[in-house]
Amino acid sequence: MTDLRARQSELQDLFDTYVDAGLRLDLTRGKPAAEQLDLSNDLDGILEGFYLLQGGTDVRNYGGILGIPEARQLGAEFIGATSEQVMVGGNSSLNLMYQYVEHMMPHWRGEPVKFLCPVPGYDRHFTICEHFDIEMITVPLNDDGPDMQQVKELVSQDAAIKGIWCVPKYSNPTGNTYSKEIVEQFAEIPKVAGDNFRVFWDNAYAVHDLVEQGDELPSLMTAAGKAGTTDSVVMLGSTSKVTFAGAGISFLATSTSQLAAFEKFLSNQMIGFDKVNQLRHVRFLKDSDGIKAHMAKHRDIIKPKFELVLNMLEKHLAGKNMASWNSPRGGYFISLDTRPGLATTIISMAADAGVKLTPAGATFPYGKDPENKNIRLAPTFPELAELESAMDVFVPCVELASLNAELD
Ligand SMILES: Cc1ncc(COP(=O)(O)O)c(C=O)c1O
Repeated sequence: MTDLRARQSELQDLFDTYVDAGLRLDLTRGKPAAEQLDLSNDLDGILEGFYLLQGGTDVRNYGGILGIPEARQLGAEFIGATSEQVMVGGNSSLNLMYQYVEHMMPHWRGEPVKFLCPVPGYDRHFTICEHFDIEMITVPLNDDGPDMQQVKELVSQDAAIKGIWCVPKYSNPTGNTYSKEIVEQFAEIPKVAGDNFRVFWDNAYAVHDLVEQGDELPSLMTAAGKAGTTDSVVMLGSTSKVTFAGAGISFLATSTSQLAAFEKFLSNQMIGFDKVNQLRHVRFLKDSDGIKAHMAKHRDIIKPKFELVLNMLEKHLAGKNMASWNSPRGGYFISLDTRPGLATTIISMAADAGVKLTPAGATFPYGKDPENKNIRLAPTFPELAELESAMDVFVPCVELASLNAELD
């Protein structure tokens, strides 16, 4: 006990020096660093004045809401569907998700609408639900995917459940990739859940491996093709974290008939997305091999950042029973669980000491982490030195908050 008290006082002194130092560090942003964005600067000027497609389409002009065939083909390889099932949108897949939910709302009218949300998950999925007044029901996310037993039970008992948010590869924030069995079970779920049920398969980290041999995610569309459920599948992805986060292209895949219905919905609000940027991306990335080679360059930049964070967690917190965390094989985040009840305190202590973290609860619907323990760390954006300083502050905050709770 006296040892623990001595350690507590040592950590409190360290914490006070950080508070006095007036640091301003940030671990909230799941954004690529400038060095990563630089990898794609050749997008600028790559067209060299050639704007015509093989069929004669001028990409500078209006039209073609589903995207240029070359980009739909690229999207098909990226997402694991056929090019006829894929459309290419603007710079945000999140925007396509929002639009797709909006498109479905009239079909869901007359009933309260509910979605299943595997947790922890991506806060902006939850924001879409809140915006449309869709009630969110959490289901646990295990290492191999959501608890499918619960998913099946819930959808069979409650016809108001119309969707589920999935980040099937290197999920945000836990880094899990769904297993083949889970993907196959997802293809079957619409049979229980009904025709208007949609599986939102947000493959935001489809090609974002941190290891050379990344995880394999079987195509949900292929499995759904066998199960006869492609109408209920909505697959999404984008090049936001491949090329430019603010100026990439996005993909959506569903059955050809559902794609035609979505095209009709979109045509009430626009004539077409940015085809010039689509062509730039096709010229720059070429195909899935091109994407793979490009992503290896991203890996070289961000892998040391993940290693630094993991090494510091290991060095200072391993074996203390104060936190557990994942070692992701891809994606953009490290998810850390504190002792129950401490996430809010640790995040506010880190803020006082100059390190901004994603707000507690952000990874849960309505911002409410029932155990108040999950913290999402985003290592990609800061420079290595900055990241190290931020972790120098964060790690003692975890230890001090745990000791405070234990001893006081
Ligand atoms: C799971 C997930 N989906 C979607 C996005 C945003 O994608 P986009 O830039 O294509 O809108 C993110 C960004 O952090 C994400 O983590």
